[in-house]
Amino acid sequence: MYRLVCVHCGATYSPDQIIYTCNRCGHLLTVEYDLDGIDVSRDEWNRRPLSVWRYRELLPVRGEPVSLQEGGTPLYHLKTIGKELGLPELYAKHEGMNPTGSFKDRGMTVGVSMARELGMKSVACASTGNTSASLAAYAAKGGIPCVVLLPAGKVALGKVAQALMHGARVISIRGNFDRALEMVHELCISHGLYLLNSVNPYRLEGQKTIGFEAIDQLGGEVPDRMVLPVGNAGNISAVYKGLRELEALGFIDRLPMMTGIQAAGSAPVVKAIEQNLDVLVPEAAPETIATAIRIGAPVNAEKALVAIRETGGTAASVTDEEILAMQRDLARKEGIGVEPASAASVAGIRKLAELGLIDKDERIVCVVTGHLLKDPETVVRQCEPPTEIDADLPSLLSALR
Ligand code: F0G
Repeated sequence: MYRLVCVHCGATYSPDQIIYTCNRCGHLLTVEYDLDGIDVSRDEWNRRPLSVWRYRELLPVRGEPVSLQEGGTPLYHLKTIGKELGLPELYAKHEGMNPTGSFKDRGMTVGVSMARELGMKSVACASTGNTSASLAAYAAKGGIPCVVLLPAGKVALGKVAQALMHGARVISIRGNFDRALEMVHELCISHGLYLLNSVNPYRLEGQKTIGFEAIDQLGGEVPDRMVLPVGNAGNISAVYKGLRELEALGFIDRLPMMTGIQAAGSAPVVKAIEQNLDVLVPEAAPETIATAIRIGAPVNAEKALVAIRETGGTAASVTDEEILAMQRDLARKEGIGVEPASAASVAGIRKLAELGLIDKDERIVCVVTGHLLKDPETVVRQCEPPTEIDADLPSLLSALR
């Protein structure tokens, strides 16, 4: 049993209503469960495979989900980078190992399943890339037509390739992500498509399982800190919400310090935390090489600020150079291939550690959100091209010398 509740004024709505913002005050909605009615134990969960659907009692889907086997991603101990930073308990949860290569799949398995249960005939989203790739794949699996709006020229190649190949109707707008989101929201309201951006409360339910899995992978221990790259601020809000539910169920007794990392050219949440603002000031012209988080007006900011403040967490920004340096370090020192936005979480920890703001004993889980292959162009720009030689052994030996 659950209902939709406004995060701001508390107005409630039926779970069957197709609604994304509160009719009374215009703020976002969230899914509120009747936790007393939830009958499951951690032992029961632990008997199931590690996956989004291990936690189905805390998800809104009732029937058979539209699934591509999402979740169950690896949690890596960052031994080398952790040693360099003096942080022996530094981990990365590699969400790039999901079916379409990002954490969005956790949200889309739930979101597209709900679209079907609610009888919606088509789905849509705006995206910096990963959301569109994921929605395109899950819409294909669910047999539902899909429209995606992208900021023209600002989406990494692999993501566009995925959206096209999975058969979405791909539209590039001459504007940024924030504008694309406004447009698709209007389209969905006026033409009855189901909106699957992170304003959709059901989609975020799937994403909260990142936190559940991280705890299970640490043998039931709550990490001291969870670090996420922040764009639209949906993911950090979702993880926080899920952990609050585990706490209310008595499965955990404390929360990690929720820590959000943004790119320096696109950091309105960081500014709001630093300046102690309740209402965020949008960044009119966001810019960063980490195009996934090139977002100036994060729609979930209100929730994210609560998540950070209520847990004693923090927010920090990192430059494009710091992001790329960490992308290379993860690849070369840990064998973990991520896209630039994903490296932001670990780059943020490096920065905070160097500023002396991290306790050396902390157990830290950084969420790395998308796979290296999402953005091959940024990789090629950073690395030396392959050495081309004649096809004989002497040439090979001389090239290797
Ligand atoms: N990391 C990656 C790789 C992303 O693609 C995104 C968001 C984020 C982090 C930030 O997550 O928005 O929940 O704070 N990508 C969206 C998209 C906006 O359209 O793919 P957030």
